[in-house]
Amino acid sequence: MDFETERQQTPGAGFSPWRLSVAPMMDWTDRHCRYLHRLITRGTLLYTEMVTTGALLHGDQGRHLDFNAEEHPVALQLGGSEPEDLAACARLAERWGYDEVNLNCGCPSERVQRGAFGACLMAEPQLVADCVRAMREATTLPVTVKHRIGIDRIESYAFVRDFVGTVAAAGCEVFIVHARNAWLQGLSPKENREIPPLRYELVAQLKRDFPHLTIAVNGGLKTADEIAAQLAVVDGVMVGREAYHEPWSMARWDSRFFGQPDPAESREQVEQAWLAYLDRLHVAGQGWAYAMRHALGLWNGTPGARRWRQVWSDHRLKTLPPREVAERATAARLSGLAVAA
Ligand SMILES: Cc1cc2nc3c(=O)[nH]c(=O)nc-3n(C[C@H](O)[C@H](O)[C@H](O)COP(=O)(O)O)c2cc1C
Repeated sequence: MDFETERQQTPGAGFSPWRLSVAPMMDWTDRHCRYLHRLITRGTLLYTEMVTTGALLHGDQGRHLDFNAEEHPVALQLGGSEPEDLAACARLAERWGYDEVNLNCGCPSERVQRGAFGACLMAEPQLVADCVRAMREATTLPVTVKHRIGIDRIESYAFVRDFVGTVAAAGCEVFIVHARNAWLQGLSPKENREIPPLRYELVAQLKRDFPHLTIAVNGGLKTADEIAAQLAVVDGVMVGREAYHEPWSMARWDSRFFGQPDPAESREQVEQAWLAYLDRLHVAGQGWAYAMRHALGLWNGTPGARRWRQVWSDHRLKTLPPREVAERATAARLSGLAVAA
């Protein structure tokens, strides 16, 4: 195949790598989850869960960093605030074959604040700039930052504008902006994803003020039409919870947003390919239930989905080969259909 044909057939070719992405989500976007998402969309960039520099430098690197080749393009998200540690981790990201390394400046959890990173870093733009500079010197991978529009009750646009300006001066060219404040006291991380109001207009303003930077918006976006509306204003859209809970919502993203054929025509096709993956885990003695939890939403919105999910969630079936469980789950789903009909 000549280069041009190959280029045209590469999903996402000709578009910003950040045009669409699935958000980093702790306990959710592990390698199994990303494998599932990749069966549904090829052009979308996938993020890991946040991995702290401490866990990487002192823990089991393979456990944190290994991924399936099929997951590309995949970005490693780091949590930390020590430039040298982040640089060492950026080097590891490159060695492991990641496509990007991202610094978390948006997580409000208290555990993360005690480590003095995450959203509280937004109060220290110069430190973030130092981190970014150190990471850029350590790797040729793109170094990107995910952050909020403000912290606590700081509502002014100037705060996030100056944050982006300072960090961009250190060489960061890509900003993924969760379009709400992080309230560092009094709200749980979950509430911090729901209660502070969404203000997309601030992200649009960032794009106007920094036209040379790549600006992607995140927070509360669900439908393809909402994504399209944002893409008319900013360079990219990152979707978190909707992609996780409703994986099939990504099924037409490649054709609509990348002008490429969608990898799966139907949910059945995804289920078959996913079963082959679960089989491999089962045969390797790794157990499939932990991976399967990410796929429980696959049939959501169709008749019988709840029965299908119930079978797959039944702990008594966890040791069976996944294909046996799949047969039962499909039978349950279709019996749901018969009842509905
Ligand atoms: C379970 C869960 C875990 C999350 N973990 C992370 C994380 O590790 N790093 C991060 O930057 N954001 C994390 N987030 C925030 C998401 O990346 C995203 O910014 C947020 O959910 C808003 O996007 P959404 O409305 O599309 O879900 C997490 C969100 C959820 C629901």
